[in-house]
Amino acid sequence: MKLGLVGAGQIGGVIALLAAMERFEEIALFDVVEGLAEGKALDINHASKILGSSSIIVGGSSPEILSGSDIVVVTAGVARKPGMSRDDLLKINANIVADVAKHLKSYCKNAKVIVVTNPLDSMTWFLIKKTGFEPQRVIGMAGILDSSRFAFHLAEKLNIAPACVTATVLGGHGDDMVPIEATATVEGIPITYFLNDDTINQIKERVRFSGGEIVNFLKTGSAFFSPAASVLVMVRAISNNERRLVTASCYLRGEYALSDLCFGVPCILGKNGVEKIVEIELTENQKNLLEKSAQRVRELNQILKDNL
Ligand code: APR
Repeated sequence: MKLGLVGAGQIGGVIALLAAMERFEEIALFDVVEGLAEGKALDINHASKILGSSSIIVGGSSPEILSGSDIVVVTAGVARKPGMSRDDLLKINANIVADVAKHLKSYCKNAKVIVVTNPLDSMTWFLIKKTGFEPQRVIGMAGILDSSRFAFHLAEKLNIAPACVTATVLGGHGDDMVPIEATATVEGIPITYFLNDDTINQIKERVRFSGGEIVNFLKTGSAFFSPAASVLVMVRAISNNERRLVTASCYLRGEYALSDLCFGVPCILGKNGVEKIVEIELTENQKNLLEKSAQRVRELNQILKDNL
């Protein structure tokens, strides 16, 4: 199994470290900045004795290094600075993703692709259009992260381990994302048993803007540990054919009454990428909130259509 990482910045670097700690067979880091990928690969190699890793890790600034990758994670792009929304990155990152699409077609045309570059749902959709790859194997990472943020803040309020909490966030990876409290549980017990509506609503609001909260703290970039950890869940699900249910940005063809866009929905991940999109019943209010989120994604895609 070969894992290709396009972008060796903050997220790409942490993914490489985590994958090495899991002894992923082969890891290739590629970045346009001369020396960055080589440097990070060598740094992780120097830790392999200590970490007990047997991974073969290489880095380079030429895309050939991605040749034969089974799974590729795309983090190439510009990250947010304070005051910027994910949508502000649209045009800059679309040019980068178009460049990446050419490399994927040349060097690893059969890979499963996980997209992390923001604005996530539009970049995933754009990469599908630019590569012509089957949409089933091009998936955006966001739902696992947003759901983990939701679970963390619920657990924090209850003073219990986040691992006990299951909570789902659907929709686009933007300020209009939709945390779903109706399905949130603590070891199967509904969250509404523990917390009142006001408290849950405050937490939902915090979750929707928690990426921005981190940007405001860091000032020079956006979250990277939690996105990298979320990617690892997806890489594992695909490489081990786990058939794991996660929320991810999937290309929709009529599911949830949406078509020709990538959007955060529950899906089963396995060796082929998205094995199945899972449709759950939603309330009228949830449907309306998702429609608002989808509308924003459509607007961004519309801007990109001029570049197709
Ligand atoms: N090909 C390969 N790498 C590229 C390209 C390209 N065409 N263009 C830029 N890069 C690299 C940059 O050189 C940089 O090292 O992408 C890397 C991005 O790393 P960071 O700036 O550290 O950003 P990071 O925090 O990793 O976030 C990456 O994910 O969550 C999103 O909004 C975030 O869009 C951003 C992306």
